[in-house]
Amino acid sequence: RLAPDPMPTQPQTLEEAALVARSCARCGLCEAATQTVWGEGDATAPLMIVGEQPGDHEDLQGRPFVGPAGQVLRSQMAAAQVGPVWLTNAVKHFKFQPRGKRRLHQRPNQGEVQHCRWWLDLERRFVQPRLTVALGATAAFAVTGSAAAIRDRRGNVEAAQDGGPVLITWHPSYILRLPDVEAQQARAQLRADLTRAVEILA
Ligand code: URA
Repeated sequence: RLAPDPMPTQPQTLEEAALVARSCARCGLCEAATQTVWGEGDATAPLMIVGEQPGDHEDLQGRPFVGPAGQVLRSQMAAAQVGPVWLTNAVKHFKFQPRGKRRLHQRPNQGEVQHCRWWLDLERRFVQPRLTVALGATAAFAVTGSAAAIRDRRGNVEAAQDGGPVLITWHPSYILRLPDVEAQQARAQLRADLTRAVEILA
């Protein structure tokens, strides 16, 4: 007998993919995380915004970008008048280190990003965005395959591994960690990049 297929169900729709992803155990991150955080938004949108992974709030609520980083992102999206969008993450489970009552965010490693790319690629095939915005290094790596430093790439339009343009910008959590003046500048750059995304799609 053949060994069982580790991924026997090939989802036929975005909704089915979201359902199957709920029980994903392709890497170890599912063990400690509360739940899979699938993408959300307008599945017919021309724009896909990809973050790193759900944070503490996202893990508990099961929705992407509902915590402090999400607030930064959503306020800059509003300022840039971003239209219909599909919001998602490169990795769909929260990776953290318990520290007392707190759960400290840990960056997913390249193996975890590669495992979760099965889902991101599937999501991208269903949504078929005309433009992708990658927030930070993990998203940029997941979508383009390049792990080069974000500092040197922010504002660039690169090619996605599955085709199509990818605009690289700061991750909103990175902005939250910067001192005031730098944070203000980075926030303005995020807004400028999102404005550019709107212009590219116009
Ligand atoms: N940071 C991310 O990259 N994604 C989220 O959903 C929340 C915070």
